[in-house]
Amino acid sequence: MFNARPAFQSRVVPVIIIDDVQHAVPMATALLEGGIDVVEITLRTEAALGAIEAVAKALPEMHTGAGTVVRPDQVQSVIDAGASFALSPGYTPALIDAVKAANLPFIPGVMTPGEAMQAQTMGFSLMKLFPATQAGGIGMLKAMQSPLPDVRFCPTGGVKPDNLQSFLSQPNVAMVGGSWLTPAETLAAEDWKQVTALAREAVSIANS
Ligand code: 3PG
Repeated sequence: MFNARPAFQSRVVPVIIIDDVQHAVPMATALLEGGIDVVEITLRTEAALGAIEAVAKALPEMHTGAGTVVRPDQVQSVIDAGASFALSPGYTPALIDAVKAANLPFIPGVMTPGEAMQAQTMGFSLMKLFPATQAGGIGMLKAMQSPLPDVRFCPTGGVKPDNLQSFLSQPNVAMVGGSWLTPAETLAAEDWKQVTALAREAVSIANS
């Protein structure tokens, strides 16, 4: 179902900006070793579709999502590559039509109550709050809890180890996203131990 919650367990979704397809499988393996069973590989680089394909093929236990899906024509491409769900910084009616037609689980991005209400009328209850910090962060989440009690958020943008627990403890937060687990310099250095360490740290904060 297009509006079903993707099946991953982790409450931390690494947001990946990948430049080298060869890094995809070792990076995802390192995240799994650190206890994270989901990746959002963003369509912001030439390597993205190849990286989705490589991870989906090599690591079926990893829930491989496509991020930064902003156009309807990208929906079939990410499905063909093997993505099991997609996320977007926002949504358009055409994009929603495409994910519904393809039955691809999808997390639309919102930044305002009106956008959240519109997404609800389109059948979604789990949404990415993006960019979370600029949207008001924890204060915004608290303010939306009472008027929109059925909406669950994945705040993304500015989430870090030092504020992770505060975000995750909000009753309307299902999970968070962030790029801090896979810094560009760590991927460039192929420091997979560091990726595992960052994942372990995040899982330990999330479980505390
Ligand atoms: C995203 O791409 O979804 C966000 O830019 C990630 O934000 P962060 O880099 O602050 O974690």
